[in-house]
Amino acid sequence: MGSKNKLKRFKENETFSNVIQPTREELTGAQFQYKGKWNTKFFKNDQPIVLELGCGKGEYSVGLAQAFPEKNFIGIDIKGARFWRGAKTAVEEEMDNVGFLRTQIELIDYAFAENEVSEIWITFPDPQIKYKRTKHRLTNTEFLQKYKKILKQDGVVNLKTDSEFMHGYTLGLLHGEGHEVLYANHHVYKNEGAPKEVTGIQTFYEKQYLEKGKPITYIKFRIK
Ligand SMILES: C[S@@+](CC[C@H](N)C(=O)[O-])C[C@H]1O[C@@H](n2cnc3c(N)ncnc32)[C@H](O)[C@@H]1O
Repeated sequence: MGSKNKLKRFKENETFSNVIQPTREELTGAQFQYKGKWNTKFFKNDQPIVLELGCGKGEYSVGLAQAFPEKNFIGIDIKGARFWRGAKTAVEEEMDNVGFLRTQIELIDYAFAENEVSEIWITFPDPQIKYKRTKHRLTNTEFLQKYKKILKQDGVVNLKTDSEFMHGYTLGLLHGEGHEVLYANHHVYKNEGAPKEVTGIQTFYEKQYLEKGKPITYIKFRIK
């Protein structure tokens, strides 16, 4: 994408009421205005809150919001020019149960209060295979502890990925740390049983992997 196009999207994001783009200072300084208040100040209802981490263009956030109008969804990514797509669709379709937050996932516990979140989706994360990149892997111990902090006690995490490495790494870690694996499938379009929302919504990256014939995997788990 050209820089002119990106600038246009950044500008348009600023006009969308469903996009929140705090500076690092706003997020980490004195209490961030939406922390603990996403229901009352942002959605203005008391529906459960579901996050999509690394939402890219926001296909899951928008798709799930359409499928589950009784829940609220927030797509999170550091790249605003990507989620512009999802935000614009949500504006055009007048959807009031989906929003987008531009931040680093590392700062997620500054953005949400304890017990504020019911569910998390991690969709096609960069697997960060190199040892030096381990700390950026979105299902490592440190991230799981951050998710646990903001999730309700019975809150669940969904991981959908094409990366066999990420699938195996996460399953191993979950078993090793004694978390609760609720469901796992290493080829969701071949092995029956994956929930409808797993096979029924496809992201930008997923479509590229499917064209290459890669299996798509899925795990649903609870952090102990
Ligand atoms: C491989 S893409 C997948 C995007 C989308 N979920 C999809 O399936 O099309 C990974 C996304 O995660 C975002 N991302 C990666 N690490 C992040 C971090 N630490 N904080 C915020 N966003 C991050 C990237 O900007 C990118 O949009």
